[in-house]
Amino acid sequence: MPATASQPPSLEQLRAKLSTTTLAQLFERDADRFAQLSLGWDGWLIDLSKERITTDVIAALIVESRQAGLEGWIRALFSGERVNPSEGRPALHMALRQQSDDPLLVDGVDVLPGVRAAQTRIAALADALRSGRRLGATGLPIRHVVHIGIGGSDLGPRLVCDALSGSGIDADSPVGVRFVSNVDPEHLARALQDLVPETTLFVVVSKTFTTQETLANAMGARAWLEGSLPPGSSAGQHFIGVSSNVAAARAFGIADADVLPMWDWVGGRYSLWSAVGLPIAIRLGARGFTELLAGAASIDDHFRNTPFERNLPVLLGLVGWWNARLLRHADRVVVPYSHALGLLPSFLQQLVLESNGKCVRRDGEPLRQPSCAALWGMTGTDGQHAFFQWLHQGVTEAPVEFIVPLRARHPRGNQQTLLVANALAQAQALLAGRDANTVRDDLAGRGQAGPALEAAIAARVCPGNRASTTMLLPELDARRLGQLLALYEHRTFVEAVLSGINPFDQFGVELGKTLAPPIIAALTDDAPLPARTDDSTRGLVAHVRAQRP
Ligand code: F6P
Repeated sequence: MPATASQPPSLEQLRAKLSTTTLAQLFERDADRFAQLSLGWDGWLIDLSKERITTDVIAALIVESRQAGLEGWIRALFSGERVNPSEGRPALHMALRQQSDDPLLVDGVDVLPGVRAAQTRIAALADALRSGRRLGATGLPIRHVVHIGIGGSDLGPRLVCDALSGSGIDADSPVGVRFVSNVDPEHLARALQDLVPETTLFVVVSKTFTTQETLANAMGARAWLEGSLPPGSSAGQHFIGVSSNVAAARAFGIADADVLPMWDWVGGRYSLWSAVGLPIAIRLGARGFTELLAGAASIDDHFRNTPFERNLPVLLGLVGWWNARLLRHADRVVVPYSHALGLLPSFLQQLVLESNGKCVRRDGEPLRQPSCAALWGMTGTDGQHAFFQWLHQGVTEAPVEFIVPLRARHPRGNQQTLLVANALAQAQALLAGRDANTVRDDLAGRGQAGPALEAAIAARVCPGNRASTTMLLPELDARRLGQLLALYEHRTFVEAVLSGINPFDQFGVELGKTLAPPIIAALTDDAPLPARTDDSTRGLVAHVRAQRP
């Protein structure tokens, strides 16, 4: 149906119109495009002008978000309503970073006092470790902490520790922190390689305390301690637990006083702000952890209180959803131009894909269009020498998110300028491409001519007209990192609301967990496989059995 004066164009009409227009033409037609489609907030500049959108698209997406009830969903999220209906839970990770003590009720009970008590324990433990007051079983101070956990119980704290180590804030940290997640015995072996059992403490992080990989590594760690500590000394003293399942942590041998809480209302991939982030406080000190929380809280306030037209997570979410749902981009690429953010793509893969990788709506109706694109990435400039060829000349288009801290933590010559310039140049190249005439002129200028010149052109043409978002931030410190991660959390929520899905459950992951035990039994005890097992799996199991030593 064509749009009328009283009826604004639909998203589908806008998509169809834009499909015959290039990004370069959009810039040519509108001298104000950058000003209208870029947004500043608290030192950030987020440039959406290189996305395949117009101000009309944004207006229509805002209408769409209102129809999807986004305002109400944001209110419900922040007020502790059960926004995770399939598990009957709220998703109140914002409570973990709330700066005020205003009550936040879950089932009529204020969760803030429990949060504050946990924060006090995190700070005290981190301080005891950093000051050498926490002793191992033989009376020696702890020198290394090994964090054992997987998924949401690993990726967040690992990313933050990696991103902020060497930031100056951790300069006085006498305690090294390592992470072990994979059930592959190589991971634990490498982590323990040069460690001394008497001065090593393990933090076992598992919301459920039933996760196979984490329990296997925790048992491996205990065996390592028991094999080396003097007879009669307690390995339990070398463990701290973070879990909502205190009974299971106790059964493993961790004293109740050494178990820090997790709550049902915090999803694993949203949990780095809780005691799951203990290694952050150990590595950076309680102050660093507090600054991270304050940064995230500033985004919470912004998300909750800013009109959609100027709301960063809302606008990023709208454009992300438009890219996946209307423009049907199957991929989305995140490229932090920051070595410190090397683990960000992995963290975002869990945050985004475990949250929004769904095929049914929250009411159980099947989704007819994808709710999100696959997400992957790598640091710039490294990625430029890996997959950027595909971005520039591959057949499909994948919108790119460039994340660029402007100030170097450790300046060296003009290297930071080189880094920032590369980010801007890549976004420019994706947009502009390089046409045949430019290639021809270039080659001719270098002395080529005739048929050889003509033959050389096609492979060198870059189509351009490829979308990207550029996010500039002043520097990467604890507060900015908190903002960045909360920004991505909330934009993921916005995209989920637009698709009508529940971003807080992950039953797809649970399926793999339930199918592994019979195979483990088949490989360990030759137990028969369940009758429903397909022939391929049977063949593979038989091969593995035959290869056993
Ligand atoms: O990866 C699946 C998952 O269920 C994640 O959601 C969660 O973060 C991870 O497993 C670890 O779970 P737990 O903290 O209970 O060990």
